[in-house]
Amino acid sequence: MLKQSPIAIAVASALMLAGTAVAGPVADKPMLVAQAATTPAPATAAPAAASKRPAPLRKRAPEAAPAPSNEVMVFDSKGVRLAPFSAAMLAEHLVMETDGFDHKQATQEGTTGRDRLAQDEIQRLCSGKNVKLDDKTTARINEMAAATIKYPEGGIKLGDWKKGRELAWSGFGFRTAHQVDDHSKQGPGANCYNCHQIATDRTGGTLGPELTGYGKIRGINPDMLKYTYDVIYNPHTYFACSNMPRSGAKAILTQQQIMDVMAYLFDPESPVNK
Ligand code: HEC
Repeated sequence: MLKQSPIAIAVASALMLAGTAVAGPVADKPMLVAQAATTPAPATAAPAAASKRPAPLRKRAPEAAPAPSNEVMVFDSKGVRLAPFSAAMLAEHLVMETDGFDHKQATQEGTTGRDRLAQDEIQRLCSGKNVKLDDKTTARINEMAAATIKYPEGGIKLGDWKKGRELAWSGFGFRTAHQVDDHSKQGPGANCYNCHQIATDRTGGTLGPELTGYGKIRGINPDMLKYTYDVIYNPHTYFACSNMPRSGAKAILTQQQIMDVMAYLFDPESPVNK
C-alpha cells in the first residue's frame, strides 16, 4: 500500500539519518575560555602550508557480519507477502511512518531541517553512486578544506587529555528529530569512538583506522601536531571525501576542544599511550 511521495527528498533524509557527513551552514561558535592545561604542552606548531601526509596507520578489519535479509512483509493489492525492501520503500517508511524528519524543525545551529539537506561544495563533489575522484578534483577538495582551517592564536598546543577523553567518548550533540539534543544541558561531543578504536579501555568502531598508541607511534613534533589538528578540523584536507566529520570547520568542536582531543591522542599520560 505504498503511496506516491517525494522519494528523492526522502532518500536524502534517509542518508542523513544514516549518519553520512551532513552539515549545513552553521554560525561560528565562540571559543571556550582558555582552559588551564593540567599537563605541560610538549610542543607547539606554527600555522603553515599543508604538510606531507604521514604513512597510514593500520586499518582494522571489520568483523564479518551475517548477510542482511532485504525482504520484508508487505501488504498490498497482491495480499500479504514477502518482498525485497528497496531504497524507495525505506524512504517511504521513514517519511510516512516514522515521522522522523520534519523539514521545518529547528536545528541547534539555528537553521532548519531543510537547510541540513542542502549540500555544500565538498558534499556535492563527494556524493553520488560510485564516485571516482580524479587527481584534479581530489586536489580541489583538499584545497577547499585546507582553506577552512583556523589556527589558534598561540599556536597548536596540547590541551587537557582528560577533557579530550570525555569529548572523544561522547556522541551527544546536534541530533534532531525525536531526541533533540539540548546543548544548554550538555555540550556536543567529538564522537571519535564511533569510528575509531583509540585506547584499550573502550571498544571503538572500525570505520576509521585504529588510533591506539597514536602519540607513541607518531611522536610529538610540530608537523605531527599540525597534521592531526588539520585532520580533526577538516579531514578532507588530506582525505578527500572522508567519512570523518569536519569537527572544526562545522563548529562541532572549538579550537581548544580539538587541542584537548589531541592531548588525549598524544599525551604520554593518556590511556591511549599506556
Ligand atoms: C564517522 C567516522 C569517523 C569519526 C566520527 C571520526 N573519524 Fe577519524 N577517521 C575516519 C576515517 C574513515 C579515517 C581514515 C581517513 C579516510 O579514509 O577518510 C579517519 C582518520 C583519522 C585520523 C588520521 C589517521 C592517520 O592515518 O593519520 C585521525 C588522527 C583521526 N581520524 C582522529 C579522529 C578523532 C580524534 C575523532 C574525534 C574527534 C575522529 N577521528 C572521528 C572516520 C572517523
